[in-house]
Amino acid sequence: MQPTLDLMSPETRANPYPLYAELRRTGIRQVEPGGMWAVSRYEDVAAVLKDPRRFSSEGLARGFLPPWIQRNPTAQSLVVKDPPEHARLRGRVARAFGPAALAVLEPEIRAIAHELTQRLLHADGEVDFVEAFALRLPVRVLGLLFGLEADEYPKLKGWADDLVSIPAGQHPPEEQARIRQSLVDMERCFEDLIEARRSAPEHDLVSELIRPGEDGSVLTHEELISFLFSLLPAGVETTVYLLANTMYVLSDRPDDFARVRADMRLVPRLIEEVLRFEPPGHSSLRITTEETELAGVHLPRGAVVVVLLASALRDERQFPGADRIDLARGGSSHMAFGHGIHFCLGAMLARLEARLGLEALLPRLQGFTRSPVPIDWSRSLIARGPLALPLKFSPA
Ligand code: HEM
Repeated sequence: MQPTLDLMSPETRANPYPLYAELRRTGIRQVEPGGMWAVSRYEDVAAVLKDPRRFSSEGLARGFLPPWIQRNPTAQSLVVKDPPEHARLRGRVARAFGPAALAVLEPEIRAIAHELTQRLLHADGEVDFVEAFALRLPVRVLGLLFGLEADEYPKLKGWADDLVSIPAGQHPPEEQARIRQSLVDMERCFEDLIEARRSAPEHDLVSELIRPGEDGSVLTHEELISFLFSLLPAGVETTVYLLANTMYVLSDRPDDFARVRADMRLVPRLIEEVLRFEPPGHSSLRITTEETELAGVHLPRGAVVVVLLASALRDERQFPGADRIDLARGGSSHMAFGHGIHFCLGAMLARLEARLGLEALLPRLQGFTRSPVPIDWSRSLIARGPLALPLKFSPA
């Protein structure tokens, strides 16, 4: 009998890559928790993500609606829709994340990045980079996107955390009550926002989503609310971890830091390589719609499949020297933003935030060191990054 492999054991969460290497050697197999089927090789991961007919996202909605929650609009969002419904919704919202929309945001994101850098460099001693920078940048960008007032930004982070925590597991009753209240508050906030933009449209995301598409189609109120809900878990945690993982990777590699610092045109390459090497979107889930076969393995109908993006991105057959950071590695043929119909809608925005964040910060640093305490990594299978990253900066 094969030994039990547990994706959520503390050792694996601290460093999942040895287990992923072993999974790639043996191929698709069942793992803990819950006997999920782990898909770990690049070509198998790509095959699953390209085949929403056999590997559905729709069943995942259940995770957002445990018995103690009666209403959660996230359970109807884009990421848990299959075709043809998915294409209709995606077609309607995609424009709001396109180059024209981002060009409007760029100067504001740059200004935020410089302001955060300034504050970071004025802090004495060690600073938690996650709290002081990595978290604040995407939360403020999401606040801008939503057109919220600045005093409402801190709430966004709490709401994002609550939404992410719902499918993740056990909650004591008082926490359940708090999360239910968060859901009510979130919905009220988005209702008010939609109402305000309906009567006085502006140049922002909500106004764009309200406007009829070129074919005259409009999102229903429920679709609009669900989409706004989904941006919190999708857009905050992942971007926080991209920034934090980048600084974590550089803290171990002073030569790479020096190279990038000397030639800032390398920043986009650094971002792509960190996305591949330590991807914040660590895995995705799918459910089989029928009995099926994948890479010679029989999967029953209704099987939960964990698509290990982070393993695929360390697959030597696709990325020679995969366990090394290599700034000369060309292209972005990685799947850190997913693959197929659910490819990340915010990929361009996330890359922009990371680039502007690093362009503001790195030139202001002579160097930085990481505290020797072991990193406490997120305990999620879906998103990976440090919960805190204590760094000491030497300003240039
Ligand atoms: C989908 C990763 C940032 C919005 C996805 C998926 C991945 C991903 C892997 C596919 C999920 C699946 O196939 O099940 C990331 C990473 C990010 C990031 C690594 C940052 C580094 C963002 C941002 C936003 C966003 C900033 C928006 C504010 C979305 C949406 C989807 C999605 C709406 C669903 C798309 C669909 O189902 O068609 N993301 N994401 N993401 N992401 Fe991101």
